[in-house]
Amino acid sequence: MTRTTWKSKFGFLMAAAGSAIGLGNIVFFPANAYRFGAGAFYLPYLIALIFLGIPIIIMELGIGRAFKKGFPSSMKEVAGFKGEMTGWFAILNSSVITMYYITILGWVLGMLIRSFSSLWTQVAVPEFGIEAGTAPIGISHFFSIISSPGTAGLVIIVWIMNIFCILKGTKTIEKIVKILVPSMWIFMIIMIIRGLTLPGGFQGLFLLFTPDMSILTSAEVWKGAFSQIFFTLSLGFGIMTTYASYLPKKSDIVNDGLSVTFMNCTFEMIAGIAIFTLLFAFSISPRASTLGMMFFVMPEGIAQFPGATVTIFGVLFFTLLLSAGLTSSMSLLETVASAIIDKFSISRKKALLIIFVVGLSGSIMFSLPHVIDPELNASGTLGLTLLDFLDHWAFGYGLLLTGFLQTIFIGWVFGADRLRTLLNENSKWTIGVWFNPLIKFLIPGIIALLLGSGIFSEFSGLYGHSSTGSIDNLHIYALVFWIFFAAGGSFLLAKMKGGTND
Ligand code: PHE
Repeated sequence: MTRTTWKSKFGFLMAAAGSAIGLGNIVFFPANAYRFGAGAFYLPYLIALIFLGIPIIIMELGIGRAFKKGFPSSMKEVAGFKGEMTGWFAILNSSVITMYYITILGWVLGMLIRSFSSLWTQVAVPEFGIEAGTAPIGISHFFSIISSPGTAGLVIIVWIMNIFCILKGTKTIEKIVKILVPSMWIFMIIMIIRGLTLPGGFQGLFLLFTPDMSILTSAEVWKGAFSQIFFTLSLGFGIMTTYASYLPKKSDIVNDGLSVTFMNCTFEMIAGIAIFTLLFAFSISPRASTLGMMFFVMPEGIAQFPGATVTIFGVLFFTLLLSAGLTSSMSLLETVASAIIDKFSISRKKALLIIFVVGLSGSIMFSLPHVIDPELNASGTLGLTLLDFLDHWAFGYGLLLTGFLQTIFIGWVFGADRLRTLLNENSKWTIGVWFNPLIKFLIPGIIALLLGSGIFSEFSGLYGHSSTGSIDNLHIYALVFWIFFAAGGSFLLAKMKGGTND
C-alpha cells in the first residue's frame, strides 16, 4: 500500500497545530493557571515545555517520518513487541479520552445551537431540581442539555462530522484544517480585543500575571504543568507520529516541531488573556473546574454583554470551541485508523466503520444522565463522576506513562544516537549530544517522579474526590476498567498477527 502524503507543508502544519490547539488551550489552561497560582504557573509550564514538551514532540515527529507507519507499528520498529504494546496502550488510553472529549463536544454543539436564541434566558430543569430563574443561565442550560434524551443526537452529529473529516485521510483533513485553524485565530483575536477593551478588562491581565510563588513547592502543581504540556501538545497519544508518517522524507522535523509548539503555546497565552480579561471585567471568578469554565463561567460573562453582542459573542465562543475540539478529535481518530490499517491491512472504510461503532457507543455512554451523575435526582448538583474518574486515570496517568515508556524504549533500546541521526537528516538546526542524557535520563526521570508522587498521594488520600461510598467505588471501577481496557487490550493487540502488509 502506498502511503499518502500531505499536499503542502502548510497543510501538515495546520493539521498538527489543529490537533494541539483544542479545548486544552481555551479552557483547561486558564482554569489550571488560575487554580495553580496564576502567573506562577508559567514557570513550571515553561520548564515542562522546554525539558519535556519540545524534545518529545520532535522525537514523536521523527519516528513517524522515519518509519512511515502508524504509531504501534512505528514503535514496533523502535523496540519490537514491547514497543508495539506501548503503541497500542497509547491508542487505547487516548481512545477513552477521545470518547468523552466527543461527548463534551456534543454538549458544546448543544450550547452553540442554543446560543443563537434561547441560551440567554433561563430554563427550568426539573430533573436537577432547577426552577426557572433559580440558577445562572449557563448552568441551567447545561443541565437541561445533559438531562435531555436529544443529547445522544448531538453526540451522533459530532461523530459523523469527525468521520467525514478523516474520510479520505490527509486529503480531507488538509482541506478542513486549512479553513478551521486560521479561523480559530481570527475568532480568538476578536475575543481578546473585546476582553481588553471592556471596562476593567485590563486588570484581568494583572490577575493572570500576578504570581503566587508559594505554589511552586507543591508537587500537584508540577504534575499539573507537566500533564498540561502533554495534553496541549497532543503528546502521548501517538498523534504526532501518525501525522509525521504522511510527511515527505525531506522535511525538516526540528523546524516543524518548533513551529507547532510555538503556534500552540501562543494560542494558549492569547486564550488565557481573552478569558481572564472578560471574566475580570464582570467580576466573575474563574475558580471552576474545566467543564465549569466552559459551560457555566464563560456563558455567565458573555450574557452580560450589551444588546445583540450577546448572541454574536456566544456564537463565536462556542464555534471556536467546536472547531478547536474537532481539529483535535479528528487527529486522534486518524491515529487510531492508521494504527488499525497498518497492522491489519484492512481498508480505510472498514477501519472507520469499526471506529465509528465502538467510539460512538462509548461517547453515548458518557452522555447518559445517570452515567454522568448516578445521584442525579437527589443531589441537585453535577457529579460528572465516571467522566471525572476516567479522566483522572487516562489523562493524569496514561499520557505520562506513554511518554515514560516511549522515551525509555527510544533512548535505550533504539538508541539516542540513532534517534539524533534520524532527526538531523534534513534539519537546519542540528541536535547535539546534549540530547542523549535528556532522552535517556532526565525526561524518564522527571516522569517517573511525577507518576511516583501521584501514586503516593493516591494512597495517602490527597486526591480524594468524595466521601460517599458509591462514588469511591466508582473510582475503583474506573481504575479496574482502565487497566483491563488499556493495559490488557494493548497486550492482546500487540500479540495479534498482523495483515499481509505488516
Ligand atoms: N491537544 C488537544 C487539546 O488541547 C488534546 C487532544 C488531542 C484531545 C486529541 C483529544 C484528542 O485539547
